[in-house]
Amino acid sequence: MSTLLDTLTSRFDKAIVAAFGEEHAGTPPVLRRSNRADFQADVALGLGRKLGRPPREIAEALVAKLDLAGLADKIEIAGPGFVNLTLTDAWLSRELDSAAADARLGVPAETPETVVIDYSSPNVAKEMHVGHVRSTLIGDSLARVLEHLGHRVIRQNHLGDWGTPFGMLIEHLLDTSATSGSEAASLSIRDLDTFYREARAKFDGDAAFADRSRKRVVLLQSGDAKTLELWRQLVDLSTSYFGQIYERLGVKLTSADICSESFYNPKLGPVTDALRDKGLLQESDGADCVFPPGFTSKEGNPLPLIVRKKDGGYGYAATDLAAVRHRTETLGASRVLYVVGAPQQQHLTMVFAVAAMAGWLPSSARATHVAFGSILGPDKKMFKTREGGTVKLADLLDEAITRALAIIEEKNPAHLDETARRDVARMIGIGALKYVDLSSDRVKDYVFDWNRMLAFDGNTAPYLQFAHARTRSILRKAGGTVAGATIAVHAPEERALALALLGFGDVVASVADSLQPHRLCTYLFDLATVTTAFLENCPVLKAEDDATRASRLALCEVSSKVLARGLDLLGIEAPEVM
Ligand code: ARG
Repeated sequence: MSTLLDTLTSRFDKAIVAAFGEEHAGTPPVLRRSNRADFQADVALGLGRKLGRPPREIAEALVAKLDLAGLADKIEIAGPGFVNLTLTDAWLSRELDSAAADARLGVPAETPETVVIDYSSPNVAKEMHVGHVRSTLIGDSLARVLEHLGHRVIRQNHLGDWGTPFGMLIEHLLDTSATSGSEAASLSIRDLDTFYREARAKFDGDAAFADRSRKRVVLLQSGDAKTLELWRQLVDLSTSYFGQIYERLGVKLTSADICSESFYNPKLGPVTDALRDKGLLQESDGADCVFPPGFTSKEGNPLPLIVRKKDGGYGYAATDLAAVRHRTETLGASRVLYVVGAPQQQHLTMVFAVAAMAGWLPSSARATHVAFGSILGPDKKMFKTREGGTVKLADLLDEAITRALAIIEEKNPAHLDETARRDVARMIGIGALKYVDLSSDRVKDYVFDWNRMLAFDGNTAPYLQFAHARTRSILRKAGGTVAGATIAVHAPEERALALALLGFGDVVASVADSLQPHRLCTYLFDLATVTTAFLENCPVLKAEDDATRASRLALCEVSSKVLARGLDLLGIEAPEVM
């Protein structure tokens, strides 16, 4: 199914070719929504510059060839050469009727691609920090959007489960279990962070412990059975904790998606050999490095990507090289997305550069760093607990739900019993937490503010969920839609709603393209606003005649479906009642 914009675009293209010649085929009409008309096309401005003619003249020549019979009943040239279009009620109604009958609600099916999305990727024996939270939410939404567009999405949770910290963690585990009698089982999942910090403190302050830890790393790397077993206990403990968080969040990540750093361990030797064979490896200060062109330090010296350290150990970069190779060569990805915080920008671009030099990132595959900013506290500094510690995600989830429940209790809705209130509070609380993260331009930092994100007004999850619940409530009262009802839009609020609904497909495609979930949020906020205006101005159940009632019910139904589908693509649930 082609979207409204596709249809208009192809009509413009025909007119452009007819007016200015075949060589201008494919010139984008630069269509956008307008407040003077339904759409405006700005193509005449750019084309005027290109052809050295006044844009107004271009607009006139274009309009003379533009065939929008049946589609638009008003075509006007305004200002320097904008082409304003007002669509016919009949065409809007017909388009919406077919979108309503379409299971995909107008979302196109794209040519399938294999897309690997590296997201969440927390570290074993550590609490997920705010950066992992953002990665989890943004990555999950992108995965949903790409999957919905028909792509084959492979989720990869690049868990940090290998490397030098495990020496001290295992030694600390042995020490604590010697005193408590049992091993990792005695570690409460919630104490992961404390456990890590204790180990770190001992490592920094106790030379004998540090020494034991280093020896333990060697044992781990050489595959000592007892050491591996202890390591496994730590990994299992953490993954079950992360699994619980994912489940509570409603994030589509399972243990099957874990492809952690340790997985790449046996591949690091071959990766290094391959780099050496290709003549890319250089020794620098005893370490094996690759110097990708174009990367220099502040002093202007070439920057190395360290593949193998002086002590013979491999680091984060080597693992990431092996991961790119695995993703393109073994998993067959033609697109790889790294949903990782902005501070890792340089690391990732260097990894991509080296991978390209080695042929592991051929031109047929693209790797993108989907970077994001930080979450700030009310003081505009890094988000911390009142005591200055890291905010535990589990606590954040609890608080979101408690606060949502308090808001519901205050409204005291008679139609919701105790169980329903809790369930709705969960959907609102978690929805609000996700939405606030997804609705801001991801590269920017944002300030965490409970009151703002839980408000029932404004660009928030509860506002969208409420608009959805209102449409559901009307549909319930009507006992469903009228079978075979045709949509006929006339009132300005009906037209505005129809136009918004017909933009769904384009927005979803644009999220996949730009990797910016906030575009979908902005769209849904607009849709919720026009839905609310429609419900307030156009009586549905008490419509003046049966045909209008049936048409408005059908409009309610498409709105409720698009709102619910859109929220689902963000990973947010839409309660039936609120
Ligand atoms: N575990 C890393 C961290 O906490 C994030 C990993 C991101 N993915 C990657 N392939 N490097 O910083």
